[in-house]
Amino acid sequence: MHLLTLKDWTTEQIKDVIDKSLEIKRKPDEYENILESKSLAMIFQKTSTRTRVSFEVAMTQLGGHAVFLDWRATNFALADIRDETQYLSRNVDCIMARLLRHADLRAMAEASRVPVINGCCEKYHPCQAISDLVTIKEEKNVLQGLKLVYIGVHNNVCNSLIEGCTRMGVNITTVTPIVNDQSVDKELIGKAERTGLYRTTLDVKKAVQDSDIIYTDTWVDMEFFLNPKFKEEKEKRIRLMKPYQVNSELLKDSDALIMHDMPIHRGYEMSTDVIENPNSIIYEQSENRLHSARGILLKLLKKP
Ligand code: CP
Repeated sequence: MHLLTLKDWTTEQIKDVIDKSLEIKRKPDEYENILESKSLAMIFQKTSTRTRVSFEVAMTQLGGHAVFLDWRATNFALADIRDETQYLSRNVDCIMARLLRHADLRAMAEASRVPVINGCCEKYHPCQAISDLVTIKEEKNVLQGLKLVYIGVHNNVCNSLIEGCTRMGVNITTVTPIVNDQSVDKELIGKAERTGLYRTTLDVKKAVQDSDIIYTDTWVDMEFFLNPKFKEEKEKRIRLMKPYQVNSELLKDSDALIMHDMPIHRGYEMSTDVIENPNSIIYEQSENRLHSARGILLKLLKKP
């Protein structure tokens, strides 16, 4: 069993991992050493703070060990991904990979003898969506029937959030004036539409009116943020997205919880004051990456 996208998991499996993550957070002592002598390889083609730290600390807390690999410093950069994965999966019990292309994750999973976790590709960020649902359930006690608005660029985080919310009975409205070409997944959107829980609009004021949760993310994906070749596109995005910034004016009649998967670009997708608004659960949300990483690792590695 892998975790490449939530599309591959049953609704029951998603629900189980959310509940298990919350249980591990409540009773960490019961899960110490449960993955003793297990190893996780973590390979990154892109930058990361939370995904790297949460999975490494999760393995330590569960009694196992994590090995960090920077893609550029390994022979993955030179050789066929299938051969390198064949080797890697004979030395570790699980692989977590943040790769540029989902197709490479699929190739890795096909070649691997052990579970492969998608640590964020151009299309999906399933670990983030699981953690977000853990955070929402922790705050609200329920998921079914809640209303979440995602405001930003339609990207990998947005895709996984749509999949996760519609599976768990959360109504999700997206306000996404820009769609990242590389994240397009028509099948995912079609399926979400058929649940009746997903809709999209550009009327941001109306969308936030009766929402329980307001969620935003970066306007520019991490691999392009500091890329000089993306400068013009970045400026265009800032111009187009500025009217959709999550700020005090937008939130003036709202008591919704505020979420952001981080890293935050202060003054762009979110104004600085909103980050520390009493309704902001952004830092709790980021903390929960650790608890949900433990839930995901147990789901994939612990034999019943
Ligand atoms: N949200 C998230 O995945 O954070 P990192 O990019 O820092 O891992």
